[in-house]
Formats: sequence, structure tokens, C-alpha cells
Amino acid sequence: DKPQIGVVGMAVMGKNLALNIESRGYTVAIYNRTGSKTEKVVSDHPEKHLVPSYTIEDFVNSLEKPRRIMMMVKAGKPTDAVIAELLPHLDKGDVLIDGGNTFFEDTMRRNAELDNSGINFIGTGVSGGELGALEGPSMMPGGQKEAYDLVAPIFEKMAAKAEDGAPCVTYIGPNGAGHYVKMIHNGIEYGDEELIDESYNLLRNMVGLSVDEIADIFSEWNKGELDSYLIDITADILTRKDDLGSDKPIVDLIMDKGGNKGTGKWSSQNALELGVPQSLITESVYARYISVLKDERVAASKVLPKPEGKVSFDKDEVIEKIRQALYFSKIMSYAQGFEQMKVAAKHYDWDLQFGEIAKIWRAGCIIRARFLQNITDAFDKDPELDNLLLDDYFKDIAKKYQESVRDIVGLAVKAGVPIPGFASAISYYDSYRSAVLPANLLQAQRDYFGAHTYERVDREGTYHFPWYEEQ
Ligand code: 6PG
Repeated sequence: DKPQIGVVGMAVMGKNLALNIESRGYTVAIYNRTGSKTEKVVSDHPEKHLVPSYTIEDFVNSLEKPRRIMMMVKAGKPTDAVIAELLPHLDKGDVLIDGGNTFFEDTMRRNAELDNSGINFIGTGVSGGELGALEGPSMMPGGQKEAYDLVAPIFEKMAAKAEDGAPCVTYIGPNGAGHYVKMIHNGIEYGDEELIDESYNLLRNMVGLSVDEIADIFSEWNKGELDSYLIDITADILTRKDDLGSDKPIVDLIMDKGGNKGTGKWSSQNALELGVPQSLITESVYARYISVLKDERVAASKVLPKPEGKVSFDKDEVIEKIRQALYFSKIMSYAQGFEQMKVAAKHYDWDLQFGEIAKIWRAGCIIRARFLQNITDAFDKDPELDNLLLDDYFKDIAKKYQESVRDIVGLAVKAGVPIPGFASAISYYDSYRSAVLPANLLQAQRDYFGAHTYERVDREGTYHFPWYEEQ
């Protein structure tokens, strides 16, 4: 049997995806630029139906036609380099798939370029980390629909399955749509992480709980509406002690400098480009950036005064309010993320199906959570929903929890514990529900110094005020 699909790139994600596909009954061709890696995968898994090749040409020729080739290489230049190596050996109708965390505009460009040579190009988001790749990721493929149909049976088998058995993969749209949705997924991932981290910080530094106590709280929260992969791993992380010998919690020994590989930043940059208010993800990116200024923060902590007063609260009550603030803020973040996808769909001419997107995030991916079912339901009820907040379920949560968020934000500010995520969540909520914002004054300022003109609320047209005339 000729391999039905090939995987290029045998780093951990590529290797695990190849093993995943093989486990669903396929023969998989594998190739890596450094042959020893390919050899090792084969020797570590002698019983698997893996067909190694040591030149690109042999690899391509080993495949069933039309060929299906999945690239799992570093995003950016390495992806272009692999495409350039593959291209001379490909035939019209072959399907090239990029499963990396690629910037969607690169995918749009590659899709158009390869289309000129008759090669189909699919850019797919693959979420779920190493284990997800092996056991079933959530996948967000975009590209030619006919090409997707050629890989759909494999993708549907390899993807994670939601509780109702539905595979966590669906055709997202043409060209860069899949990688775009993965970028939003990652932005939302940043937001979720930031909100959990702020909750932890409040429990630790405002409420004064121990790491063990906080671990228990997260485990408890994970049994309710916050039930999610990220809350689950957070509870686990907080139970872990130093692996190098001391009996300290490992979190206390991990340097507080947040890394990033850029996908959250792309979401924010794109939101700014499209004019979408996406404050929560952006605050999460900034939270990572300020965390990196460790030396400056340490120096500042010695000279800048902290709040003088003490905050007082009932412990159990405040813990529950933090939980509510976390859930409320998470909803604001998703409302913004889905809003951004709505604007993007128009801008890039993609027919994004928001309910389907929420569905494929229910399992496999990093942001998987019980509440994605509520989002799915909301879009099932109304596919044209303007904003998640307007759905009855979410409206009701906002109604029930908004006072808690206000209390927590107030307390945190008084206690001097930073809560950029929570604060932006409640500000977004208050802005969104305001019939009137002070942009009237802004327009007056712009018109005053720059004659930028303004509209009026009481009549049609564009106006300029005679600011420099006496009245
Ligand atoms: C996923 C993750 C994955 C990766 C992130 C990490 O969906 O499986 O999003 O793609 O772990 O890109 O991003 P940062 O390094 O920027 O936090």
C-alpha cells in the first residue's frame, strides 16, 4: 500500500501527528531534513505503518496521488523553504497542508502562489499541544474546499472528539481562514491564561491563601461552569513541588517572566487593523510584556509606594466573587474574539460559521471548556448573533455576576494587585452597554484643533463648529 499521506518535519508535533494518523489505520510517509530524526521515529516505533524517506523526491514519489502532504515545520521562512523544496516534485491537484502556527497572511499568500501552479494549499490550525497532536487535536483548516474534501476523512479521524462524538474539525473557509481562526484561538488562550493568573494572584496576594489552598479552589471551580482544560492544569500545577529537591511549590521557583511566540500579538495587531475593540487579549499580551521587565519591576518595588490602606472582606465571599469575576471576564474575552471574527469574515470575505468554530473548540484544543457548548448553543439559536453578550445565557450571567466583578476590581485596585484583564472586562461591558459615550467630547476636540468635523445627533450631515468665533 502506498502511504495515503505524508508528514514533513519530525519534531515533536510532526512526529505525534504522524503517529496519530497511523493509529487511525493509515500508512504514513515521513520525512525530516535531518535523516537521523526520521530513522529514530521509525526505530522507536517498529510496529507502525510508517514509510521513511531520506530525500524529498523519494518522499513525494512514495505517496498515493493526489498527494496529501502535511508540513509540521517552523512557521515563517522554514515553511517557505520546505515548500520550495517540495514544489518541483509535486503534480497539479496535490494537496499541501501547513499545520504550523503560521501567520494567516502568509497562508493567504502561499495559497494564491501555489494555486497558480495548480497545487492546493491548506493552512490548518492544530491545537492541543504535544499530547493533542498524538491523541487528537482540534483542527482549523482553511484553503480550497475541494482540497479539504480530499483530506477531510483523515482529519475527521485524527481530530479530537467532543462529548457528543463530533470530530473537532470543520472546514473554516478559503485561503487563510483556518490560520486566522487559530490566531484568534491563541489570543483567547492568552486571555484565559491571564484571567486565571490574575485570580491566582488575588487569592494569593489579596486574600492571602497558600498555594495548596488555591490548588483546591481551582479544583473546586473546575467542577462547575468554569470547567476547562486550563483551570484543570492550573489546579494540577499548584499541587506540584520542586523537582530539584526543595519542598517548595514549583510555581514559587519559576521566574515570573511571560514568554510568547507572537500569536497573541498578531490577534491584537489584527484587531487594531480591523478596528475591533479587543481589549482583553491585548491586555494579556501587555501583561506578558510588563512581566518581562523583571529587573525594572524589582527596582521599582523598592521605591514606588504601595497602597496605604488595608482592604477588608469576608474570605469565602470574596473567593466566590473572584470565581464570578473570572467567568464574567472570560465571557467578555470570547465576546470580543467572536466579534473580531465577525468583522474579519466580512473584511476577508470568509463565510465563517461561528457555531461550528465554537463546536470544534469543545475538545482537543487548549481553550477547551464546558462553556464552549453554551457558545455553540447561542449561535445555533441565532447564527447572526451580533455579540455573545446579547444571548440570553450570557446576558443572564452578566446580570448575575457584574456586581461581583465591580467589587473585585475595586478591592484589587485598593489592595494594589494588578488586574488588567478583569478591569478591561468590566470596562468593555460598561462601554458596550452605554448608549452614550464621551466620544461626543472627543469629536469636539478633534474638530476644535483640526477641523475634523463631526456628525450631530439631531440632524443629518457633517458639521464644523466655529470654535474661534466669539459666541
Ligand atoms: C495550541 C497552542 C500552541 C502553542 C501556543 C503557545 O493551541 O496548542 O496555542 O499553538 O502552545 O502558540 O503560545 P505562546 O508561546 O505565545 O504562549
